[in-house]
Amino acid sequence: MTATIIPVSATALATAATQLREGKLIAFPTETVYGLGADATNDRAVAAIYAAKGRPEFNPLIVHVADEQQLDRIVIWNEPARQLAARFWPGPLTLVLPRHKDTKVSRLVSAGMDTVAVRIPSHPTARKLLEAVALPIAAPSANKSGHLSPTTPLHVHASLGHDIDLILADGKSPVGVESTVLDLTGEQAVLLRPGGVPIETLRQVVDVITRDQSGSEGLKSPGLLPSHYAPHLPVRLNVTAAQADEAFLLFGPPLSFSGGAERLNLSEQGDVQEAAANLFSYLHQLDRPVYKAIAVAPIPLHGLGLAINDRLQRAAAPRVLLSHKN
Ligand code: TXA
Ligand code: MG
Repeated sequence: MTATIIPVSATALATAATQLREGKLIAFPTETVYGLGADATNDRAVAAIYAAKGRPEFNPLIVHVADEQQLDRIVIWNEPARQLAARFWPGPLTLVLPRHKDTKVSRLVSAGMDTVAVRIPSHPTARKLLEAVALPIAAPSANKSGHLSPTTPLHVHASLGHDIDLILADGKSPVGVESTVLDLTGEQAVLLRPGGVPIETLRQVVDVITRDQSGSEGLKSPGLLPSHYAPHLPVRLNVTAAQADEAFLLFGPPLSFSGGAERLNLSEQGDVQEAAANLFSYLHQLDRPVYKAIAVAPIPLHGLGLAINDRLQRAAAPRVLLSHKN
């Protein structure tokens, strides 16, 4: 597959919106950098983003919407967020807020955490696309993991040309750096990533501290954030025979496995991308105190299997504050 670069037009926007609704990936311009968009409520489409980017772990994604109302059922608002949104949206600012319990946004977008990063971009083409599709769109920068963020359609093509069908083109991204990411889930606003809106400007509205001032450990990778989701139950890996009081997360033909009080299968066909799409929601479903542990079948290490294993190993690692049941 080689991606087609389509200059923006009413027809191109309609095509892109239709493809997003069908669960496909579309690269599109924003004022910061080009994004790789997918329907944020579609687990399979979100898994396809991670597959295309080729990341060895699940890094949470930013949800893009056309207007603030769309966010009411996605995140839980607070006062600083309202003030920042009023001042800087639409624009290059991303706010991390608690997930709304009723949200339809895929748990894979949050990489299993109980937060969602949201932003309303100002680029006219991004806005028109978001209005046309009328769905929240998850979009990381449209580059392979480890590559530079793309600011032109050709950058996108060079990095992801073999992984996607359509690049909606509208010149060069005017800001040229990614959005500023601000965590508003704690007592104080914490700058997670410097970007399009300078910290000095943010400080005209709210008090912002940097990560080193926040005193938290291990914030280098969002995967290591203290708030990162780990099941309450202990997790046991590479299991083919589960115990009678364990919940069992399978992968592949069910006949290869025995035991387990309740079973969910990440992918009967043994498809790692399907497994990634189901991973966090199935872990949540099985994480109930009636069971002693979650047993997990072996997951192969190819494609998204790497990211799945990374996540599962962290969930299974010994925990400092584990409350013991005997
Ligand atoms: O300007 C931008 O933000 C571009 C355009 C396309 O909007 N997008 C972008 O996405 O740069 P990405 O995936 O390349 O970077 C998103 C950043 C990552 O550092 C990620 O860890 C952080 O936002 N992030 C996303 N959701 C988060 C969450 N729930 N909690 C903490 N950090 C989060
Ligand atoms: Mg990026």
